[in-house]
Amino acid sequence: MVGSQLRVVVLVSGSGTNLQALLDATADPAYPATVVAVGADREGIEGLTRAERAGVPTFVLRVKDFQTRSAWDAALTASVAGFDPDLVVSAGFMKLVGEDFLAAYAGRLLNTHPALSPSFPGMHGPADALAYGVKVTGCTLFVVDAGVDTGPIVAQSVVPVLDDDTAETLHERIKTEERRMLVEAVGRMAREGFTVDGRVVRFGG
Ligand code: GAR
Repeated sequence: MVGSQLRVVVLVSGSGTNLQALLDATADPAYPATVVAVGADREGIEGLTRAERAGVPTFVLRVKDFQTRSAWDAALTASVAGFDPDLVVSAGFMKLVGEDFLAAYAGRLLNTHPALSPSFPGMHGPADALAYGVKVTGCTLFVVDAGVDTGPIVAQSVVPVLDDDTAETLHERIKTEERRMLVEAVGRMAREGFTVDGRVVRFGG
């Protein structure tokens, strides 16, 4: 992928500030990636509005509109495939993808998580870190595997926990760092290529 624009599909479920960071980065022609589509598992979210504002095609696939979870997964796989992405970024997409999707995008499906893996996997990373009393937490960008937030780590960034933090204030500071990490890592992946060797991800061809 080195030397051409990396085609990225972003999956969202909520406010989409990580998506916005990528959209803002791709507005610079020197940034080596482009967001070719944004997919969501629900209607009416800010993430979709952000994509529409940027003129990026969107699609929505709600699990409840399918008879089975695997039918939803197959439809998601087909929709994403229609945009021929090099990389898929799950940025606040609050669904675990299934076997079809993982098989189609093995090694090139990334997820951002608001904790320092392997600590605090799941849906409540900042609240879980706060409750545990850790003094530093942060964010992790990883290559998705079949587990929950367990895949090989692409990048991590540390955020201190403050005495007066709530889960919300901590998450907001993590997200500021997360957006920077995501834009930098996707840029490097596009410019330099990357390899996944067991658990270890390295930039470079
Ligand atoms: C991000 O902090 C992301 O890591 C988190 O949701 C937030 C989405 O923010 N994802 C998870 O917790 C998934 N386990 P955004 O919609 O503003 O980009």
